[in-house]
Formats: sequence, structure tokens, C-alpha cells
Amino acid sequence: MPTMMDMTGQVALVTGAGGGLGGASAVRIAELGADVALLDVSAEALAGTAEKVRAMGRKVLELPLDLTDRAQCAAAVAKTVAEFGRIDALCNIAGVLRCGRSEDIAEADWDIVMKVNLEAPFFLSRAAVPHMIEKGGAIVNVCSTAAFKAQGFFSAYCASKAGLLHLTKTMAVEYIKTPIRINAVAPGGMDTALAGEAHPAFALDPEVVGRLGNPRGMCVIDDVADMVAYLASPASRSMQGSCVVVDTGEIVW
Ligand SMILES: NC(=O)c1ccc[n+]([C@@H]2O[C@H](COP(=O)([O-])OP(=O)(O)OC[C@H]3O[C@@H](n4cnc5c(N)ncnc54)[C@H](O)[C@@H]3O)[C@@H](O)[C@H]2O)c1
Repeated sequence: MPTMMDMTGQVALVTGAGGGLGGASAVRIAELGADVALLDVSAEALAGTAEKVRAMGRKVLELPLDLTDRAQCAAAVAKTVAEFGRIDALCNIAGVLRCGRSEDIAEADWDIVMKVNLEAPFFLSRAAVPHMIEKGGAIVNVCSTAAFKAQGFFSAYCASKAGLLHLTKTMAVEYIKTPIRINAVAPGGMDTALAGEAHPAFALDPEVVGRLGNPRGMCVIDDVADMVAYLASPASRSMQGSCVVVDTGEIVW
């Protein structure tokens, strides 16, 4: 029996594709047979992922764009459809973390977290929806355990991820009469560049940050990427408005 995780002939747009989870997810999705549009603000990081995907024989479109700009969000979807003629999956993986005391956090830091983590998934999704509304498609939003768990000194990040989780559920309801599936993944800690941005919070007061991590350690990035790919693929056809937690037990610990 053919696996439902087969994405042969499909096209996925993956944001944050130059990063840890975005890069691993793009590779996994390409392994399932899809051609991919890879978006990241870092053209250099993007090129590394693109090389891996091309080596697998898949087609790649590199989109070195800045998701803080709404026009570039819409342009990313338009360029993907212009290149490949379709878009079957949108994986909103790009993210940024800024932390600090709420009274000190710079307005620019608050803005960038909200724009990249919350607004960009919305503006990318609404640009993708018209291309998915008849033949179907999947939107996968990468939240975080921070969507569920309050962490001191992470006000912008936690709020953005809780917002993204509720955006996922709200859009899942809105499009429930269409063949578009909208789901989320909430990873626990992963060893990526983003995780390094958390250090200033621990320097302020680890007790106030709260308990992050657990005795099992960090998540294996490829395991989280597998979940992203599952939700992007037709195998997740029975899922709508779900958030799958992949966190080595961080929330229950
Ligand atoms: N690492 C963790 O511990 C952890 C835990 C839970 C959730 N997450 C989430 O996983 C996702 C992926 O993060 P990661 O851990 O792979 O980090 P990462 O830093 O390796 O990757 C993030 C990528 O997003 C890109 N990006 C940032 N700003 C951008 C912008 N304005 N426009 C376009 N691209 C931009 C970066 O260039 C980078 O390549 C994020 O949404 C993050 O919040 C990470």
C-alpha cells in the first residue's frame, strides 16, 4: 500500500529554511517527494539547505526574503506559484526570540518577535489560501511549548506563540468546510541558534524563567521535522486545528 506521507508532485513553501528546524523540515519534505520553495532572511543559510535538496533531485526555489515585511510574505507565495504552478503546503517555521524584563524590552524587539512569529504566518497563510481552497493543502505553524507555559522574561515570545496557536485553531475553524488542513507543532527545546537567544533571561533570574527542559534533554531536531512533514503531507488528512507537542516531556515535567 502506498504511504500517505508521499508528497510526490506536490510543492511546499518552507520558511526559516536556513535554520535548524526549517532546514531539517525542508529536507524531510523533499525526501517525501515534494519540490520546495525555501524562504529565509539569510541567503547564505538558505543556500546550504537548497544544496541538500537539489542533491536529492528535487526542484528548489530560493526566496531570500524578510518576513517582517508583509509585502514580502505575499510575494513569497506569488513567486512559489509562479515557479511551480501550485502550492500544496505552507510550513511557517521562521521564528525569532528576544527576551528581557518587560519594562526594558526595546520596542523594536517586541515588533520583530510579533512580526516574524505571529504576523508573517497570518499574511503567508492568507496569500496561500486562495491557491488551496479548491484542491486542498496544508498549513503547518510551528509554535512552542511557550504557547502553553508562561516563562518569565519571555513576554513577547510567549505571547507570539500563544497567539500563533490560537490563530491555527481559528483558521482551522474558518476553513473547515474547505479541503485545507491547518495544524501546529509545539516543539520543546532544540539545539539551534534561536535557543542561544534565551541566555540573557537565565542571567536575569533562572527562578523567574521557570523550569525549562527536563531530564530527557532537548528534542532531536529531525524528530520535530518528521512531525512537520507528517502534518504537511496527506497522511494527516484527519487532523484539523490540532497542535502536536513534541517536547521530550517538557510540559508534563
Ligand atoms: N530552538 C528551540 O528551542 C525552539 C523551541 C520551540 C519552538 N521553536 C521554534 O522553532 C522554529 C524554528 O526555530 P529554530 O529553533 O530552527 O531556530 P533557528 O534560529 O535555527 O531558525 C530560525 C530561522 O528563521 C529565520 N528568520 C528569522 N527572522 C526572519 C525574517 N525576518 N524573515 C525570514 N526568516 C527569518 C532565521 O534566519 C533562521 O534561519 C521557530 O519558530 C522557533 O520559535 C524553537
